[in-house]
Amino acid sequence: MEALQAVRGMNDILPDQVGWWQKVEKTAREVLENFGYREIRTPVAEKLELFARSIGESTDIVEKEMYSFQDRNGDFLALRPEATASVVRAYIQHNLQADPILQKFYAVGPMFRHERPQKGRYRQFHQIDAEVFGIDSPMIDAEIMHMLHLFLERLGVSGIMLNINTLGCPECRKTYRKVLQDYLIAAGDDFCPDCLRRRVTNPLRVFDCKVERCKALITGAPAIMDSIDDECRAHFDAVRGYLTRLGTPFVINPRMVRGLDYYMRTTFEVVTDRLGSQNAIGGGGRYNGLVKDLGGPDVAGIGFAIGMERLILLLQQDQTEPARAAQVFVAALGEAAGARGFLLVQELRDRGIEAEMDYEGRSLKSQMRRADKTGARYVLILGEDELNRGEIQLRDMREKTQKNLPLDGVVGEMLELSERS
Ligand code: HAM
Repeated sequence: MEALQAVRGMNDILPDQVGWWQKVEKTAREVLENFGYREIRTPVAEKLELFARSIGESTDIVEKEMYSFQDRNGDFLALRPEATASVVRAYIQHNLQADPILQKFYAVGPMFRHERPQKGRYRQFHQIDAEVFGIDSPMIDAEIMHMLHLFLERLGVSGIMLNINTLGCPECRKTYRKVLQDYLIAAGDDFCPDCLRRRVTNPLRVFDCKVERCKALITGAPAIMDSIDDECRAHFDAVRGYLTRLGTPFVINPRMVRGLDYYMRTTFEVVTDRLGSQNAIGGGGRYNGLVKDLGGPDVAGIGFAIGMERLILLLQQDQTEPARAAQVFVAALGEAAGARGFLLVQELRDRGIEAEMDYEGRSLKSQMRRADKTGARYVLILGEDELNRGEIQLRDMREKTQKNLPLDGVVGEMLELSERS
């Protein structure tokens, strides 16, 4: 029978890779919690309408990439293409605004977009997502980018750059929309069918187009920065000022509009030139108005998400895999020693020492080979002779030394050794 394969664009993360994932998640949790964020876990499926109303009907994500389906009740659902909409939904549903302190949340998990798979672009991918509610101060814009930078620095990521921009408020957007629309109409009708439609319905989305012809036609398009009002400009200037004082390097990229409709004012992306065309490691921005639009209170919002696959691809270019090794391997020979060895392994584990054994009673040579493969620092050898004498042989694989220990005291000795190493 033909063996089944995973769905295209959805990957297994095998044990030899998982060390990277654990390292990234651990560092993320440490940094985020240090900045006052607390974890939130929401379902992977939501009502389709949630994403259409937040990300925007005319975005690529909603128009082309969503895993949407009707469940057995006939309800229209979708696998989440991102986390922000779900976090906002949960924030409203559980009245989280009522907590005077906790307004910072993070989520880690799989997201789904039906894009064409290639290196760094998958149909199931993972994000580390952070969201803050109720703070309009430019301090939080700067802080969130500073935190993102710190996180990447702590992981030892190199070759990245933080791009920032402002999209202004809805009023500025209205002005810009008209300016851009005029430009797009004057540019002629050589745009792809999507862009011809978008320049009427949602002209900003023309910037997301991947068609070379369209990209060329918009190279001279006016920048949004020139349409923003004084208040939005002051907010952006303050964000830049704080970032500079925090020592977080950034460049201003007036062409960056981000592919989701809910943004206003500050937007940002961390990009690299080391992953080919999938150059965004993470991105985010401010979304005042979204919580209200989804039926909640009128509170400010800002957040970002990092793509874990892309981040790990980047880490793998400069670093070796985080090592994972069992501490102790128990090699027991013969039935009686095998049974004693089995109990010893459990006892070591009970005391918090990572221990492994061979359950099949193989030869000493083959057990030593297995011990070597597990990367164990110590091997404990228990043959029939040792068992009769109440002893066990300890080999230190790194120091290449060996000695006999009383079998009764071996757990204590291993505890001491593992504390020292
Ligand atoms: P986004 O820019 O759509 O933003 O996605 C954030 C990151 O997810 C990207 O920079 C990229 O690293 C990763 N990513 C996106 N699509 C894929 C894919 N198909 N394969 C692999 N990685 C991918 C958002 O999702 C917003 N929710 C961010 C946000 C949070 N804004 C405010 N709060």
